[in-house]
Amino acid sequence: MRIELMNTCTLLAPAKINLYLEILGDRPDGFHELIMVMQTVSLADRITLTCQESGSIHITCNHDQVPCDSSNLAYRAAALMQQEFPDRASQYPGITIQIDKQIPVGAGLAGGSSNGAAVLVGLNQLWDLHLPIADLHRLAAQLGSDMPFSISGGTALATGRGEQLSDLAQLTGIPVVLAKYRSLAVSTPWAYKAYRQQFHDRYLSGSEAFAQRLQAVQTTPLFTAIAAANPAAIGSALHNDLEAVVLPDHPSVAELHQVMQSLQPLGTLMSGSGPTVFAIAANLAQAHHIQTALQEKLPYPDLEVWVAQFQSQGVERVANS
Ligand code: C5P
Repeated sequence: MRIELMNTCTLLAPAKINLYLEILGDRPDGFHELIMVMQTVSLADRITLTCQESGSIHITCNHDQVPCDSSNLAYRAAALMQQEFPDRASQYPGITIQIDKQIPVGAGLAGGSSNGAAVLVGLNQLWDLHLPIADLHRLAAQLGSDMPFSISGGTALATGRGEQLSDLAQLTGIPVVLAKYRSLAVSTPWAYKAYRQQFHDRYLSGSEAFAQRLQAVQTTPLFTAIAAANPAAIGSALHNDLEAVVLPDHPSVAELHQVMQSLQPLGTLMSGSGPTVFAIAANLAQAHHIQTALQEKLPYPDLEVWVAQFQSQGVERVANS
């Protein structure tokens, strides 16, 4: 029987920041064992998906640094769905993915993962699959360590490769200033490789040692601050191990970090593998003040600065037709 399906769906695919990133050691699969606290922010791309009875996967994007070929995570997400659901794929082989890019590229904000996550969520809807969230997470984890988080979003503890999620108290409305040099991107594989080269002797080994560290971390001030939704305490407990390799290698990012911190926000940190640096502000007025002051102190046309807020929602559907 032929099923009549909706053919267009628009989704918001938000960015994330890391409030905490600790590298524990090597995993047998070649990745690193991590402890991260992830937070969705309101800076988002808009993804419009259209299914057709003919054609193939096709990506369009308003940003010239985004590849529109099979290296794009949105493309790979669509291809994975076609492989997993061959009946739907043969009925609707045409998938057009229009990406309206607002999240900077190569930024440590999971913009690519978020686009891929939106394609999984959107095709689940358009193809009327009714997959539960656990199945979407399983598919997402095959494509990228950050992608399961991008689907559900909010405030979460991410462990393993970064794909194992547990919810923390949800933080919403906390203002955050994000800053990045447009022409600077940091490769995530490079950052982890550089960290391994420099800090391998500090690595823990074995699942027992990883589990003990995970338990200990959850009693630290950041976790108490999140449970109490206390932005000032969160700001003073931010931490990212990858700063130790990315900041020395990129003096302009180290300077951005230092100038941001001098404006006295609640806290400043590089997100993920960088090079985006963010500051948590006490209120929206302070966030806008930091945005303006940053642009005055570092008056480079290449520097982009955004004000956003913490939000509890990951990928979100905004329209169907
Ligand atoms: O999973 P994802 O494709 O986002 O990872 C990009 C790269 O970052 C990996 O190929 C690996 O080099 C590094 N990485 C890692 N350990 C993790 C996550 C990422 O070493 N847990």
